[in-house]
Amino acid sequence: MANKPLIMDHPLIQHKLTLLRDKRTGSKEFREMIAEVSMLMCYEATRDLPLKEVEIETPMTMTKSNVISGRKLAFVPILRAGLGMVDGVLEMIPAAKVGHIGIYRDPESHKPVDYYCKLPKDIASRHVIVLDPMLATGGSAVEAINLLKKEGVQNIKFMCIIAAPEGLDALTTAHPDVQVYCAALDEKLDENKYILPGLGDAGDRIFGTK
Ligand code: PRP
Ligand code: URA
Repeated sequence: MANKPLIMDHPLIQHKLTLLRDKRTGSKEFREMIAEVSMLMCYEATRDLPLKEVEIETPMTMTKSNVISGRKLAFVPILRAGLGMVDGVLEMIPAAKVGHIGIYRDPESHKPVDYYCKLPKDIASRHVIVLDPMLATGGSAVEAINLLKKEGVQNIKFMCIIAAPEGLDALTTAHPDVQVYCAALDEKLDENKYILPGLGDAGDRIFGTK
C-alpha cells in the first residue's frame, strides 16, 4: 500500500507558504522563501536517516555519540523550479550530491517532456530526494522517478511545497514506494492544470520570467 503523504504543518513552514502564495511577493523574496521552506522541510524529510554510534572524546571524557550512517544522500531537482529548492536543502546537508533532471510540461497536452539528465555516478547506491515545488498532474514527478528507477535507485522520496490531489494520486499509484512530503495539499487543478489556490507558476516566479 502507498505511504500517506506527510504534510508539514509546522507554523514556520505554514507562515512562509502564505508569503509564497501571495501574488504581491516579488521574485527576490519568493526565491528566498522557497529556499527557507525547503530547508525546514528537509529537516523533517531526513528524520529517518540511519545513525551509527561512534566513540569520541569530549573535552571532559570519552563517550559514544551518533553520526549519520549507511547510504549517502543525493538531491535531484526537477528543472527549472526544483533548482529553487537546492540551496535550502544543501544548507542542511552540505555533503549531499546533486543530480539534475530537466522536464517541462507541454503547454497543450500538459504531458511531461524530458530534456536533460545528469546524475552522480553512484546514484544507484544513494538515498535520493527529488525536489520540485509543484506536484500538479504528477506527470513530471512520475517521469523523473521513472528515470531514477531505470538508473537503479531504490530509495526515493519526493519533496514538494504544494501538491494537488490529482498529482498525489498519480504519483502514489505509479510509485507507491515513494514517500511524499509537502507543505500543503491544495483543492484541485484548474482547466489549464494549474493548482488552485496554489501559488501560480513556480518557475516563472523564481526566475522572474513572466
Ligand atoms: C512545473 C513544476 C513541475 C511541473 C508540475 O514545471 O515545477 O515540474 O510543472 O506539473 P505536473 O505535475 O503537471 O507535471 P514547468 O513545466 O512549468 O517547467 P519549469 O519549471 O521549467 O517552468
Ligand atoms: N506548475 C506550476 O508551476 N504551478 C502549477 O500550479 C502547476 C504546474
